[in-house]
Order: sequence, then structure tokens, then C-alpha cells
Amino acid sequence: MLESGVPVGLAKPPPAAATRFTIENVIAVRHWTPKLVSFQTSRAPGFRFTPGHYTRVGLGGADGNLVWRPFSVVSAAYDPYLEFVATLVPDGQFSALLAGIRAGAPVRVDKSSYGFLTIDHFAPGEDLWLLASGTGLGPFVSILRDPATWAAFRTVVVVHSVRHASELAYRAEIAAIPHEDPTAIEPERLKYVPVVTRESCPGALNARIPQLIEGGRLESATGISLDPRRSRIMVCGNPDLGLALRRQLTARDFHVNRRATPGQLAFENYWQATPS
Ligand SMILES: Cc1cc2nc3c(=O)[nH]c(=O)nc-3n(C[C@H](O)[C@H](O)[C@H](O)COP(=O)(O)OP(=O)(O)OC[C@H]3O[C@@H](n4cnc5c(N)ncnc54)[C@H](O)[C@@H]3O)c2cc1C
Ligand SMILES: NC(=O)c1ccc[n+]([C@@H]2O[C@H](COP(=O)([O-])OP(=O)(O)OC[C@H]3O[C@@H](n4cnc5c(N)ncnc54)[C@H](OP(=O)(O)O)[C@@H]3O)[C@@H](O)[C@H]2O)c1
Repeated sequence: MLESGVPVGLAKPPPAAATRFTIENVIAVRHWTPKLVSFQTSRAPGFRFTPGHYTRVGLGGADGNLVWRPFSVVSAAYDPYLEFVATLVPDGQFSALLAGIRAGAPVRVDKSSYGFLTIDHFAPGEDLWLLASGTGLGPFVSILRDPATWAAFRTVVVVHSVRHASELAYRAEIAAIPHEDPTAIEPERLKYVPVVTRESCPGALNARIPQLIEGGRLESATGISLDPRRSRIMVCGNPDLGLALRRQLTARDFHVNRRATPGQLAFENYWQATPS
């Protein structure tokens, strides 16, 4: 899938047990657009995560400018490598380092993984809705490639909202999921809904996700109703989208999942919401 490169060893890695991270190598890089990049790294044998988790990735360091940022894991739990997808944001410290990344480059990866965007946090349900903006799709690719997801839910709906059609990353990979081991399923159990908001794109819806829900267009496009008794909903990416959906869905009797009180909604925000 990605353009391959040859991993190179590092001259003097620090003793692994003494650090909270391992030093991995970039093994492949893929540019979906000039500002949207996926990269694969080697994976420490002891690194464990649950699909939906994020870890911390560190770049730089040679001249003291080491920058750490959280990134959701895109790869499946059984893949021998780790994969991440990133937007290169204007004036971003990490983005500046990531822009020039090549196969062979060293990358620090936290030894732990984190987060609550995992299916085991929900009470059993019928349909899993994965609502993503931009790179918020990443953890959902990992969740879709997990056989446990298909054992837990009858249907999974993936909604990916992007500005431009070229940003509909992982389209082919998602389409392949019903046809590949270990996730082979009846194709109608997976419903993929692309949403392109700033240009017209054949086959995609073209309004923001809250508007699509408000007008009933998402339910009619999928043929499935949003119902707290059967739907479990994860939202990932833009915090303003998260906020809008939280307001909209709690008004429809959905509840945010909490340790003490199980609900039907789980959110992962990639940055701070715009102050209102
Ligand atoms: C739990 C968690 C998981 C994350 N997982 C991912 C991931 O899988 N992929 C990813 O690209 N980013 C992810 N992020 C964001 C990531 O950690 C960085 O913020 C991002 O890579 C930009 O870093 P930066 O230093 O260049 O800019 P920063 O200074 O960190 O961010 C500057 C601004 O850029 C915008 N921005 C940041 N990230 C994004 C984004 N992903 N899409 C659109 N706008 C953004 C926001 O307006 C932010 O205030 C995650 C964040 C959190 C908290
Ligand atoms: N993607 C680009 O072409 C582009 C170009 C230059 C710079 N950037 C920068 O790159 C970063 C990431 O951009 P991105 O496009 O990946 O992420 P984004 O701005 O979060 O947009 C991704 C998707 O989420 C939708 N969205 C945004 N806010 C929403 C809200 N409050 N409610 C519902 N839906 C919402 C967008 O719709 P809308 O289109 O309606 O906003 C779009 O479909 C930003 O820092 C941006 O400044 C991106």
C-alpha cells in the first residue's frame, strides 16, 4: 500500500528499559495530498494497543528540538508495523518535522497506548457509527480491521467528512475489509459514507455531518436509524464537530459513555474546541 523504503539502524539507541519510549524507524511514507501523509514505522515487539487507541510519537531531537504529539494508531493490532495518518497544519511544530520525513528516519514511539475510543467501553449494541472529520478517520480504520468489531456489531457505518475529495484517505482499504481475512463479512454489514464539504464529488454527500443528521439524510443514505437502544456512536477529529454532535445527539436521548454510567457516545478531540 505504501511506497516502501529500507529501514536503517540507529547508531546508538539508548537502553530501552530506561526510557518510556522505543526508537523505531520509518519504513514507508504515503502522501495522499501534499498536506496529508501516512507513515509506517517499525513496531517494538512489546508494543500493545487496542484498536481506537493513540500513542505519542516524537520527532526531531538532533539539535534538541524533540517534539512529541499524540497520534491514533491506524494499523491493525495484528500488523507487524505501526501506521499513523497526519495532517500537516500551517505553522505546526510537529508538522514542520513531519513534512520532510523519509523512509529510514528515526521516530520515537511511547511504549504505552491510551484512550477510551474503543468498542469495549460500550454496552452491547446493534449498529456502530464511526463519525470522522479529516484525520479522525485513522483510529476507525484500525477498529474496522479488528474481527472483534464484527463480532460485537451487526452493522458498522463509517462517515468520513473532508473538505476535498482528494482527502478521502483509506477509501480502497475500507472497501477491501469485507473481502479480506480476518474481517471477511457480508459486504452490506459495512456502510461507508464519504462526505465532501467544499466541492462536489459524485457519490459523496456534501453537507457537514450535523446537518446531515438534522435533515435525516444520513439515516436515509444508510437505511439505518439513529436510535439510542441500538446505536453506539464514536466521533473523532475536529472538536467543534464533536461539540455540535454532542449537543445534537444528547437532545435525542443519547448519553456520553462514562465509567460509572454507560452511554452510547464516545468522543476523541484532536485539539481544543474554538471558544464560543
Ligand atoms: C488524542 C489525540 C490523538 C491525535 N491523533 C492524531 C492523528 O491520528 N492524526 C493527526 O493528524 N493528528 C492527531 N492529533 C493531533 C496531533 O497530535 C497534532 O496536534 C498535529 O499533528 C499537529 O501538530 P503540530 O505540532 O504541527 O501543531 P499543533 O500546535 O499541535 O496544532 C496546531 C493547530 O492545528 C490544528 N490541528 C491539529 N491537528 C489537526 C488535525 N489532525 N487535523 C486538522 N487540524 C489539526 C488545530 O487547529 C491546532 O490547534 C491527535 C491529538 C490528540 C489529542
Ligand atoms: N484541507 C485543506 O484543504 C486545507 C488547506 C489549507 C490548510 N488546511 C489546514 O489543515 C488543517 C486541517 O484541515 P482539515 O480539512 O483536515 O480539517 P477540518 O477543518 O476539521 O475539516 C474536515 C471536515 O470537517 C468538517 N468540519 C469542520 N468543522 C466542523 C464543525 N464545526 N462541524 C461539522 N463539521 C465540521 C469540514 O467541513 P467544512 O469544509 O464545512 O469546514 C470538513 O468536511 C487545518 O488547520 C486547516 O487550517 C487545510
